[in-house]
Amino acid sequence: MRKALYLTVFAATLSPALGAVFGYNSGAQKPGGVKNQADYENEFRAAKALEGAPAGGFTSVRLFTMLQDENAGNNPIEAIPAAITTNMRLLLGLWASAGSAKFDRELEALGNAVNRYGDAFIRLVDGISVGSEDLYRNSAAVEEGSNPGANPQVIVGYIQKVRQRLSNTKLKAPIGHVDTWTAWVNGSNAAVVSACDWIGMDAYPYWQSTALPNNAIEQSPRLFQDALDRTRAASQGRPVWITETGHPVSGRTWGQSVASVENAKRYWNEVGCPRFGKEPIWWYKFQGDQAGDQPNFGITPPGQLTTKPLFDISCKPPGSSTPVPMPVTTGHPGAGGPPVSSSVFTSSGARNSPRSDVSGSPTSTPTGSITILNGTASSTSSSPATNTNAAVLATGSMSGVWAAMLAMVFAV
Ligand SMILES: *[C@@H]1O[C@H](CO)[C@@H](O)[C@H](O)[C@H]1NC(C)=O
Ligand SMILES: *[C@@H]1O[C@H](CO)[C@@H](O)[C@H](O)[C@H]1NC(C)=O
Repeated sequence: MRKALYLTVFAATLSPALGAVFGYNSGAQKPGGVKNQADYENEFRAAKALEGAPAGGFTSVRLFTMLQDENAGNNPIEAIPAAITTNMRLLLGLWASAGSAKFDRELEALGNAVNRYGDAFIRLVDGISVGSEDLYRNSAAVEEGSNPGANPQVIVGYIQKVRQRLSNTKLKAPIGHVDTWTAWVNGSNAAVVSACDWIGMDAYPYWQSTALPNNAIEQSPRLFQDALDRTRAASQGRPVWITETGHPVSGRTWGQSVASVENAKRYWNEVGCPRFGKEPIWWYKFQGDQAGDQPNFGITPPGQLTTKPLFDISCKPPGSSTPVPMPVTTGHPGAGGPPVSSSVFTSSGARNSPRSDVSGSPTSTPTGSITILNGTASSTSSSPATNTNAAVLATGSMSGVWAAMLAMVFAV
């Protein structure tokens, strides 16, 4: 009891209120390759200048890996120097589903970034995520072996490693883990919650085709709030950050949820706007993929970067010409508190672009059928393409799909 209390206080101390974070998710890939520093700089400048954005543009970016080249070396991801140049904040990520040797390289890249870029880097870090949806991919929601993740003990061990590695550095950002809301409400993962300073929740009503009465767009605010409430109830007092959510502007209908610009705007207005500036949130996502029949979540189109969104993102009430005043800061949520840091899992290659920037059709899609469970219901699909999406249906997460492919890429 005492220990639990201590841990809670400790976590609260390490985790300044990140109320003002208005961020987005960014994978490490671009069509035909891996983003370099110039790519990230261009992207960050566009994201910060997004027309009509509530906070004047995105102020933080979530990454999925610390490695610029997932296949070799320990060079930090070039998003870091780009963030320094453009004053973009960072939620860093270390990819945690590819075994301990790869994880050690992620950790070395993080250490190398601290040494190489020092305070200019450290001051930008909102937080560090050890893993991304690893528990989801490890769960009964995904058929064994088809979609490797990591079990709770492995994630806890990695979190301890990161704490130890950073203990004698100036990087004191709060350390957490990102997973689907369904993973957080699973009591078997409680040890991961205990090990975190904050927990990151991914939730997509779009993918919740088994939701009752259905997952049509008008149900989205309720489904999202329910996921958040349940995650908070399982959070052991840790702050819950919304690390991924969004609605596709195009692509297939999933359950009764229709992908359209109109619905993406409605989701933004009804799920996003009430929370922007009040809760830490990283939208999925800024720029769309040239992704064939994959649902496209970008609020700006694929191809040439633009600052013009596909719909009005101003959060103005209908019929009003006055933007809603929002308590959004300039992107320094940690001001007054300890430096906050963030890490992203991005690796080069397909692996770090869980749903971010993989273009074209996934060639390494798992071939086995994936059984999806939401606790009581399950569904199986036989086509690989469907499987990737089916894998995320129960959790309302999409990263499982890409992560599965990434994991398979790693396996070879
Ligand atoms: C709950 O979590 C455990 C440990 O991560 C996992 O093995 C199990 O499959 C999960 N249960 C469900 C229903 O996803
Ligand atoms: C799973 O889906 C079924 C069918 O829609 C629903 O009755 C049940 O409540 C869901 N379980 C969870 C844990 O959400």
